[in-house]
Amino acid sequence: MAKKPRLLLLILLAAFAQVHAQNKIDTSARIDALIKKMTLQEKVNMIHSSSSFTSGGVPRLGIPEMVTSDGPHGVRPEHGRDWELDNNSLDSGTYLPVGVCLAATWNPRLGYEYGKVLGSEANYRGKDVILGPGINIIRTPLNGRNFEYQSEDPYLVSKMVVGYIRGVQDQGISACVKHYAANNQEAKRFTVNVEMSERALREIYLPGFKAAVQIGGANTLMSSYNKFRGQWASQNNYLLNQILKKEWGFKGLVMSDWDAVHSTMQALWNGMDLEMGTDLHMLPNPDYTKFFLGDTVVSLVNAGRFPEYLLDDKVRRILYVMYKTKMIDGTRKKGAYNTKAHQQTAHKVAEEGIVLLKNQNNLLPLNKEKTRTIAVIGLNAQRKQSMGGGSSQVRAFYEVTPLEGLQRNGGNIRINYAQGYNIARDAKADASLIRQAVDAASKADVVVYVGGTTHGYNYSVWKDNAYDAEDTDKPNMLLPFGQDELLQAVLKANPKTVVVLMGGGAVDMQQWINQAPAILQAWYPGLEGGNALAKIIFGDINPSGKLPMTFPKQLEDHGSHKLGEYPGDKDTANVHYMDDIYVGYRYYDTYKVEPQFAFGHGLSYTIFQYSNLKVTGSKGKATVSFTIRNNGKVAGAEVAQVYVSQASSALPRPEKELKGFEKVFLRPGEHKTISISLDEDAFKYFNDVKNAWVMEPGIFRIGVGGSSRDIKLKGEVRL
Ligand code: BGC
Repeated sequence: MAKKPRLLLLILLAAFAQVHAQNKIDTSARIDALIKKMTLQEKVNMIHSSSSFTSGGVPRLGIPEMVTSDGPHGVRPEHGRDWELDNNSLDSGTYLPVGVCLAATWNPRLGYEYGKVLGSEANYRGKDVILGPGINIIRTPLNGRNFEYQSEDPYLVSKMVVGYIRGVQDQGISACVKHYAANNQEAKRFTVNVEMSERALREIYLPGFKAAVQIGGANTLMSSYNKFRGQWASQNNYLLNQILKKEWGFKGLVMSDWDAVHSTMQALWNGMDLEMGTDLHMLPNPDYTKFFLGDTVVSLVNAGRFPEYLLDDKVRRILYVMYKTKMIDGTRKKGAYNTKAHQQTAHKVAEEGIVLLKNQNNLLPLNKEKTRTIAVIGLNAQRKQSMGGGSSQVRAFYEVTPLEGLQRNGGNIRINYAQGYNIARDAKADASLIRQAVDAASKADVVVYVGGTTHGYNYSVWKDNAYDAEDTDKPNMLLPFGQDELLQAVLKANPKTVVVLMGGGAVDMQQWINQAPAILQAWYPGLEGGNALAKIIFGDINPSGKLPMTFPKQLEDHGSHKLGEYPGDKDTANVHYMDDIYVGYRYYDTYKVEPQFAFGHGLSYTIFQYSNLKVTGSKGKATVSFTIRNNGKVAGAEVAQVYVSQASSALPRPEKELKGFEKVFLRPGEHKTISISLDEDAFKYFNDVKNAWVMEPGIFRIGVGGSSRDIKLKGEVRL
């Protein structure tokens, strides 16, 4: 570069930095000035809710209420100020595939697009905070909220969460990362006390939150309902003050989960900034001033029992978020609602998130020209899922069911539908429905079975048939509603059956898996899900999703159940995570247990060849490069995964751990060389004897492949 332009660039950069610094000073000076003008009562009004989804404002000073809304995969329907569902509102929006489907794309760029849809629609609907993403670690297949969460693996969560948060926040809206922390089961969620080692906390349960704060720059965080080491998470000094605010330097605000605060003094001292919720017992006339962080705080400060400067810190954090999202001073650019682009993002996430688990003799994709009749069997083929599951319910602008998707995308194929099973609490196999299904199956060229689990239709009855739902876990890992019996009969009547499973995760497939040639895991794939699924079935789209969690053969095999406690001690409410760091594949691989489908597994209609592994390293860092070639006849995408393990270490370490991945799109015959950098964090572990992350020099093994159990290339590096 010539000298003059370089000088000009430097001057511009300096000017930019100065303006930026000045803005920062201005904002913090403005916040201080506002706080100085506030009465004690006004400050206290800001640290608790003022209605079911808002925090209190100070109208006299132009400080608005902060409007929050669920949730993680679409903006929730409007509830009046006090919970009544408003059925006259224009609140049907873009229903995105659920969190676990997003994670199954292994595509962080899609995480950003997903967040952008949410932020934009929340903005349009006048919200300031979207109550998502939910990123608790998937520890047991039974957790009712796994569908909202992302993965059993902290590295995958950390990568996906950053895009989501930035996508939301680039729209001028705050993300709210939840539920901090150790909220890994819904059973006893209001009472359970989680005990785990410091190592498990640091290596497994916290990294997603840390990345959300430090890399994603999340403005807000929601504490969880449970206790952690004997203290409620909402008033937990270690989690909130020590780790989040001090160690990680979090500048934003912590809000409680709804009605999760239990005591004024602990919440005040231990890092809670904003108490949210509605005491349902007080409905229809809730008095928010009676909250734990309500008017009691005024008396405590007046009596000298709580220092006002600490109250100011809470108010400052709330104002900081308000300034950052232009709730005070400035105008936010307007969001958009139900756009084609939003629907396309939902479609894209579904097409990249649906996982092809099994495809014997290439039954899939179905040939549209050669297939004359399809029997579609199973109630999930027809069922709309958007309004289910609890707080993450969305009133969908539309929802293409699997049956509609197959009808729309199947050309001239004749489609016959049979319901197959009933959805009702404790519903057993229904002989006459099975007869109808068998009849349809035997007359068709191919069967597409769409079953799995489900969540309730609407908020008030979600628990009635809840399998994937808030505040309740699944009773076991078996397919509900007599589907095992039904599936066996259908597979017998027509062995050319494609099994599509919807739901938040693994089910026990032992009774029919050997007979089933093709299986797709469709999660809850959002408003375009039926189209995406059908396009995969007909080969218009090549599947590229990979499992973000291990699918066990049976529940008893799973590490959290085998080594650890679940749902916890009957008498004490304690649940001890004795499975420790051996969560998901870390357990299966280290303890040599065969899973049904491994973490990272997912098939394609093409074949990928891995070659040319090179591993170089120095000063605690390494670079892993390799080539992937599409050796098949159709274009497709592969998620290449890099696993690291240490040959010998002072404390035992898992057999392998995911430390890098990349999703590569390749045309037939095309190849690409991928280079993945592994920094020190990829090699360190948390030594809880030293209470620190340590890097122990030695030999590290590198495995590269298409799943945790499909390692194609192996190398080593000495660091
Ligand atoms: C859930 C949160 C949700 C909140 C508000 C709670 O019961 O656990 O995830 O954001 O309600 O609806």
